[in-house]
Amino acid sequence: MSDRIVSISAAETRPIRGAVLRPGQPAERLIYPDDNNALHLGAIIDDQLVAVASFYQQPIPDTTAQAWRIRGMATLPENRGNGLGRRLVEAGLKQAQRIQQGPAWCNARTTAAGYYQRLGFQQLGDTFDIPDIGPHVVMVLEVAD
Ligand SMILES: CC(C)(COP(=O)(O)OP(=O)(O)OC[C@H]1O[C@@H](n2cnc3c(N)ncnc32)[C@H](O)[C@@H]1OP(=O)(O)O)[C@@H](O)C(=O)NCCC(=O)NCCS
Repeated sequence: MSDRIVSISAAETRPIRGAVLRPGQPAERLIYPDDNNALHLGAIIDDQLVAVASFYQQPIPDTTAQAWRIRGMATLPENRGNGLGRRLVEAGLKQAQRIQQGPAWCNARTTAAGYYQRLGFQQLGDTFDIPDIGPHVVMVLEVAD
């Protein structure tokens, strides 16, 4: 078995976004604002894309400083727990910091908050609801220079 982390296009993220994050939702909901200016990475195992993550230049809510927002973080169920999510975030933020330094953040589903915590993120503020998706919390990671 060979696995690797690679840059992919926005279009390539969408089947896994759809399957994992927005099952049954229309294709247009798999296109996120600014997808064309974002970094998109994928994990490939035996020539199959099995996990994706995207990185957008967007300040932390209620701030103006440069930061990187992670969206569309998804690993296919059968490939979870093997460190692919961690490798995607680490590789994406490494690439991102070469473009613009700044912290990383995301609106984490509360079910995934523990995952971001394992990666060093800390919760910022209270839980809030995103309609049709569920409870979320902002998670932030200060990235070292
Ligand atoms: C959350 C998700 C992306 C994790 O992907 P993954 O490839 O399984 O993650 P990893 O194997 O790299 O896990 C990294 C660490 O986080 C832990 N972890 C993974 N998912 C977790 C969760 N939901 N809660 C708590 N810890 C979790 C792992 O045990 C691992 O810990 P370790 O470093 O001590 O070994 C994946 O479960 C997923 O796609 N979930 C559904 C979609 C989702 O919720 N996406 C996030 C939306 S905000």
